[in-house]
Amino acid sequence: MEMEKLVSLCKRRGFIFQSSEIYGGMNGCWDYGPLGVELKRNVKESWWRDMVAAHDDLAVPSGAPSAYEMTGLDCTIIMHPQVWKVSGHYDLFHDFMVDCRQSKHRYRHDQVRGRWLTHRGQRIFVATELVADEGLAETQQRALKFFNLRGKDADDLAWEGELVSLTTVADFAQVLGPDAKELGTLTPPREFNLMFETYVGAMRSEDAKAFLRPETAQGIFVNFKNVLDSSRVRVPFGIAQMGKSFRNEITPRNFTFRSREFEQMEIEFFCHPSQSPDWYRYWRDRRFRWYTDLGLAGERLRLREHTVEELSHYSCGTADIEYAFPFLASGDFGELEGIAHRGDFDLRSHMEGKLVRKGNELVVELDAEGKPRHRGSGKDLSYRDDLTNERYIPHVIEPSAGADRATLAFLCEAYAEDQAPDESGKMQTRVVMRLHPRLAPIKAAIFPLVRKDGMPEVAQEIYRAIKPHYTVFYDEKGAVGRRYRRQDEAGTPFCITVDGQTLTDGTVTIRDRDTLEQTRIHKSECLAEIRNRMGRGARG
Ligand code: GAP
Repeated sequence: MEMEKLVSLCKRRGFIFQSSEIYGGMNGCWDYGPLGVELKRNVKESWWRDMVAAHDDLAVPSGAPSAYEMTGLDCTIIMHPQVWKVSGHYDLFHDFMVDCRQSKHRYRHDQVRGRWLTHRGQRIFVATELVADEGLAETQQRALKFFNLRGKDADDLAWEGELVSLTTVADFAQVLGPDAKELGTLTPPREFNLMFETYVGAMRSEDAKAFLRPETAQGIFVNFKNVLDSSRVRVPFGIAQMGKSFRNEITPRNFTFRSREFEQMEIEFFCHPSQSPDWYRYWRDRRFRWYTDLGLAGERLRLREHTVEELSHYSCGTADIEYAFPFLASGDFGELEGIAHRGDFDLRSHMEGKLVRKGNELVVELDAEGKPRHRGSGKDLSYRDDLTNERYIPHVIEPSAGADRATLAFLCEAYAEDQAPDESGKMQTRVVMRLHPRLAPIKAAIFPLVRKDGMPEVAQEIYRAIKPHYTVFYDEKGAVGRRYRRQDEAGTPFCITVDGQTLTDGTVTIRDRDTLEQTRIHKSECLAEIRNRMGRGARG
């Protein structure tokens, strides 16, 4: 499928518009039109329903270590600025950063150092995060490994002076990143001031500065104690939240895929550390299944487990659910959702202060005076199990999804062109959005075959009977074949038509979008039939 066709259909049929289009548009911002708003709401409502509202707290779901509870939150977009300082977003988003495409580590550009050397005519820059003697020793070790040499061959390496900053290196093609095995894996430095700033109150001073949240997750962590104290949840339990997030993306692109304003659907699942690997596997598989149940399947959807080298050292697993979006090169996939084992990193950060990695430990980052660089809340966010009396900091599994990315993937997957007969029986190319019935913006369209003989009245009666329960659309304008086509493009799974026979025996036709099959049912059974077909959730 060519992406241009989908983008054009989205605009033509009112799924997605460019924000502020009449003023030339706003880069990285998108508006959902009349059909799009219903589709995206259905995506979010399906997520909430499947993960939270309809979750059975008493049963042990297949693959889960035990039963668990799910609850929700709706936090503000503007939070205390300290939240972002402690979480790491403030420091991380304000510096020039380089990413390693291989190890997935991110480094402050000015904190990476390294040394040039030449061996057998090849000149490379070996980078490290260490300084002084440690840095010299590490670069030496890594250079030997890179060139497949032994320690006794160290003299074969022709080093050029001391450690220098990566900022002195213009071209990264010959750079061996601090955790890389190959040259040229570092991206060019990028300024990561991704958080949108605003001012709270009348003064535009530094003290009044606040941020639009770049993720919904932190609202959950800072309310962990509130939820524990106000409800009777017990570990293991999850807190879900969906809502707007903002990132001042340097390069918004690929339709809604990378936007500056977008919605996330995030769960923070709190569990006992000893059970966290099992819960991680449960959530990874559960979330993957959610997409396949709603129609993303086949070769275009995949679960990619991060390699051990890619993992944060406190994490025992991270997986991405990825989709082969049509705007990507063949064989490439884009992230829909990440499922991360985050250990106790977040709760500890909000207790103690911003944490940094030191060797194999997470320690509070200190400033030049030896004080915490960003202080935590000082509140006790540990959990006491009232049955065993054990007190511990729960580990967190975080399934973090994007509502806009999921919506885009469902749109891409749904777009199809096939051959269908028009009203004169001639085969024509038809554009059809094969959206899962749960996601379809309109569940059924109701048509009188013609605008006379009492057919509109019967059709309106059916429309009014279904409308309180499902989004339905009444249309009496134009040839019925064209009305069907319009609904196919909108992704409407069922069309109900009142015709001449209705007036004699009270039956109507119900047409299936995907199979084109038309069956007759009594007009009084329309609501039950839609409910039945929706329940089946089938695509045809
Ligand atoms: N709390 C973890 C977190 O925010 P993330 O990978 O940065 O992790 C999670 O974001 C999900 O949010 C992504 O998998 C993606 O679906 C969505 N997302 C992130 N940035 C986005 C953007 N600029 N535009 C649209 N969706 C985005």
